[in-house]
Amino acid sequence: MKKITRSAFGIASVVFIATTFLVAPGFAADAPTTVTNIFKPLSTPAQAIHEVSLLALAICAGIFLVVAGLLAYIVFRFRERPEDEGREPPQVYGSNQIELAWTVIPILIVFVLFLATARTIYDVQGAAPPTDALNVTVVGHQWWWEIRYPNLGIVTANELHVPVSEAGQRRPTFLKLESADVAHSFWVPQLAGKTDVIPNRENRMWIEPTQPGTYVGNCAEYCGMQHAHMMLRVIVHSAEEFTKWVAEQKQPPADDPQTRAGRDVFFTTACINCHGIRGTPAMGTFGPDLTHLMSRETLGAGTVANTAEKLRDWVRNPQTIKEGCNMPNMQLTETELNQIVAYLVTLK
Ligand code: CUA
Repeated sequence: MKKITRSAFGIASVVFIATTFLVAPGFAADAPTTVTNIFKPLSTPAQAIHEVSLLALAICAGIFLVVAGLLAYIVFRFRERPEDEGREPPQVYGSNQIELAWTVIPILIVFVLFLATARTIYDVQGAAPPTDALNVTVVGHQWWWEIRYPNLGIVTANELHVPVSEAGQRRPTFLKLESADVAHSFWVPQLAGKTDVIPNRENRMWIEPTQPGTYVGNCAEYCGMQHAHMMLRVIVHSAEEFTKWVAEQKQPPADDPQTRAGRDVFFTTACINCHGIRGTPAMGTFGPDLTHLMSRETLGAGTVANTAEKLRDWVRNPQTIKEGCNMPNMQLTETELNQIVAYLVTLK
């Protein structure tokens, strides 16, 4: 009996150690994942956090094994036997050695964790931006992300485009985080830790992705009804592709004579109170900038794919796609709807 339980416990420990320490780092391949993943850092600050978290996990796993092992041993070794009837185990009061051990060892463990964590926080938060770093301002709104490149004159939404960093060529992006309404939290797990986005406060963080691709993230602070539909994408380009993206975004908005009717409807309804289109009378900042609307992958901050069909559903009544969002049903006629959508899909 004793042998069976011992070997079962042994197997369980091996499985636990294997899954914790061998599989987790084994995730590390070199492409972003399509689901949020804290075990596959692909950016300098995320890598630093990943390392300190593995240390904490290893220490906790060690404590778990020692405590659970001793507990299992004691439960079986000192279980009640028939000859124990009416006997009391020896009573021990006070042992300086034991009390010292269970005070000093935990203090040392906490001290090691504290030092390792403090060093990582210092490295991540204290990093000075290189003079040529890309600067981006991210503004959290209920329930979407406004993304501004103040030095480039670009404004977009829900998709942060940045250049990749390569060996010998760092291209970090430094983010200034602001909120237009309530508290949100900016989190792209493969790129950096969470940073809260707080009204009347400017928080800062940075990312330095090392692989091109699309990294998914989301708002990580409950911010109201559509908190779950406040997703964001970080699209990491090679240096050349990023330059190309910047050039495209700097282009003035399309103005196709074929879609003038839709443009007129757009500019004579309340659309322009909330939305901006660069270089036009539409200067609203309450909703996403639409200058290059169709260059984005999603609508409603990751709620649905940005296709002409979904855009039509969205403009007809956004509340059917994202209930509670701040864009109302504009009560457009079928003709107006067709004209506006025909205009909007040209904003590439
Ligand atoms: Cu914004 Cu949750």
